[in-house]
Amino acid sequence: MQKRLFITGGAGFIGSNCANFFLKKNFKVFIYDNIIRKSSIINFNNLKKNKNVITQKGDTKNYKKLENLILKFKPDLIINCAGQVAVTTSIIKPREDMESNVIGTFNILEILRLNNLKTKLIHLSTNKVYGDLENEKIYQNNKRYYLKKSFSGFDEKTNLNFHSPYGCSKGAADQYVIDYRRIYGLNTYNIRQSCIYGPLQYGIEDQGWVAWLILCAITDKKINIFGNGKQVRDILHVEDLTKLFYKIFLSKSRKIDGYYNCGGGLKNSISILELIDIIQSIKKNKVSIQFRPKRKSDQKIFISNNKKLLKTFNWKPNINKFDGINRLYNWILENKKNFKKFYK
Ligand SMILES: NC(=O)c1ccc[n+]([C@@H]2O[C@H](COP(=O)([O-])OP(=O)(O)OC[C@H]3O[C@@H](n4cnc5c(N)ncnc54)[C@H](O)[C@@H]3O)[C@@H](O)[C@H]2O)c1
Repeated sequence: MQKRLFITGGAGFIGSNCANFFLKKNFKVFIYDNIIRKSSIINFNNLKKNKNVITQKGDTKNYKKLENLILKFKPDLIINCAGQVAVTTSIIKPREDMESNVIGTFNILEILRLNNLKTKLIHLSTNKVYGDLENEKIYQNNKRYYLKKSFSGFDEKTNLNFHSPYGCSKGAADQYVIDYRRIYGLNTYNIRQSCIYGPLQYGIEDQGWVAWLILCAITDKKINIFGNGKQVRDILHVEDLTKLFYKIFLSKSRKIDGYYNCGGGLKNSISILELIDIIQSIKKNKVSIQFRPKRKSDQKIFISNNKKLLKTFNWKPNINKFDGINRLYNWILENKKNFKKFYK
């Protein structure tokens, strides 16, 4: 029997990459997206052409509509990629952020609970649930922040500390997803992602920084660096992420707590200044930059410890940052015309 995947926010960056990956595994895929991110219409229209894809515009806040579609489609797996994604927007529009991230996710959980569905749910959470990590002793050199030598990444025992409306809304959803597994026995998997990057990503200044910086470089736009540019993240290529989701889908184990940190790990950690160096070496030209004040609630450094994922699903990232950045650079170059429609 053909397996069925329902993706909320399925026309976004991660959602459409999941769709393409699971289509290759012969899944039937349902894309549900409100297209609040304007560029998602490109992925939406491309996916629509595939006979194994059903597309529907809609919002996760609309309980009845979502419930009817899920009950009719009968998915084996739901991946929740929908939501408000930027810290900056959450500060300007906290209610919109809360409703999209909390109510949207809560609706999916309630649909599963009230209809007694055993469907697996993968929920896309974030490392922002750990806040600004201001109690860590953080050092710096001229290119990046770093922690002591023995540091092997932040694991799931790191204290939760919700900063910014985005941190609160993602944090609340994160906790609901974990608790619905604990209290109601739902089959939920909560993935606290670091920065994900890769093709089909239409980065903007507020979100998707790897793609945004590359786009600026390619289009000769001046790059704004908020803060000193030494902020570090462990970047994970979206192809590695979709492979993890497939492993989760195949996994039979139920004796797990269902929440995981997920990123590129130490080896794929990179600062903004280091990324700019890599971009300049690909472009074989200097890019122009200007420094701006630090943004609120911007972690100085986050690097995931992926050990729990390795132990539970035998998963680790494979694509190294140099290869991944090169690939994304080429993808943006090839798709420059699409970007023109959505960027001034
Ligand atoms: N990309 C990253 O680096 C990253 C890192 C950590 C967490 N995340 C989380 O992963 C998820 C997906 O991120 P992404 O990078 O693919 O973002 P994205 O903006 O490309 O995709 C989100 C999609 O959801 C849609 N959407 C938004 N609110 C919706 C709603 N209420 N109902 C239906 N559709 C809605 C948007 O139109 C968009 O197509 C988000 O929850 C985000 O917080 C992403």
